[in-house]
Amino acid sequence: MAKVLVTQQIGDEGVQKLREAGHVVTYRDDTEPMTPAELQTAVRHSEGLVCLLTDRVDTAVLDAAPNLKMIANVAVGYDNIDLAAATQRGVLVSNTPDVLTETTADHAFALLLAIARRIPEADAFMRADKYEKFEMFPPLLGLDVYGKTLGIVGLGRIGAAVARRGALGFGMKVLYTATEAKTAVEQELGAERVTLPELLRQSDFVSINVPLTSETRHLFTLDTLRQMKPTACLINTARGPIVKEADLLTALREGIIWGAALDVFEDEPRMVSGLAQQHERLVVAPHLGSATGETRRKMVDTAVTNLLAGLSGQTPPNALNPEIVGQADE
Ligand code: GLV
Repeated sequence: MAKVLVTQQIGDEGVQKLREAGHVVTYRDDTEPMTPAELQTAVRHSEGLVCLLTDRVDTAVLDAAPNLKMIANVAVGYDNIDLAAATQRGVLVSNTPDVLTETTADHAFALLLAIARRIPEADAFMRADKYEKFEMFPPLLGLDVYGKTLGIVGLGRIGAAVARRGALGFGMKVLYTATEAKTAVEQELGAERVTLPELLRQSDFVSINVPLTSETRHLFTLDTLRQMKPTACLINTARGPIVKEADLLTALREGIIWGAALDVFEDEPRMVSGLAQQHERLVVAPHLGSATGETRRKMVDTAVTNLLAGLSGQTPPNALNPEIVGQADE
């Protein structure tokens, strides 16, 4: 039996499962994250922590929780957790990969199509009662997607799922960057690994699918955006700070790139000043990549399964630092 803190609303099912396993759960059934000070106080006696990507679990939080054994992040990205510091303190950390891969790739592709075919602009046009006549060359001419070149920055699980949609569904040529060659995906889709400058130079659609790390923070600045085709679109469903948002706004205003679709923002939930007013060639969504009821429930269930395994001394299926397991007993 362990004390478990669930920092934000995850639904009753997951909490019930933790309680049925005999754990004493403090469930903060709230959709607002705690302040850092509140989190430090709340976590003080916890052995298990279930948190969301909006909870920053840094050294101050870890130091405030001397009994902490395991952190289960209900997200695949874990840039909100200081993994090195947790590992150093013998605290297991897990995430929720796989269950959200296809859902997030669907969303990336929805955004790609939405920006290419100007769906939000078209929707606004209709609702403003502006459709007066059919035109051969209407103001809302879009871009072809079929047969174009799709550049995937980071061919991990989600990147590969986006690539599959592009190659198999839309006859796209796939280019990618990755720290190592993904030969299975190359064989399956005819994807080609290139350098980032080459990918930017050739791609009609660039999809960002890398995690946020010190290397990928501000990977896209005005300099990077200038390497893209003026007819190309950028799609970001990964993490906001990978793109310097003010530079992207400049690139859109100055026609350096054709368009962008963003599901994530540099200073979420805010957008950089001016972005909300940019109606043309920009599609924005409030971090909905994995947001279907089915997938969000699977993510909660995965996090709970991980936590239960970790608290009972087993290796959690999605442990990010499995080397921790059993360390305390050695
Ligand atoms: C969502 O952004 C996630 O990392 O799961």
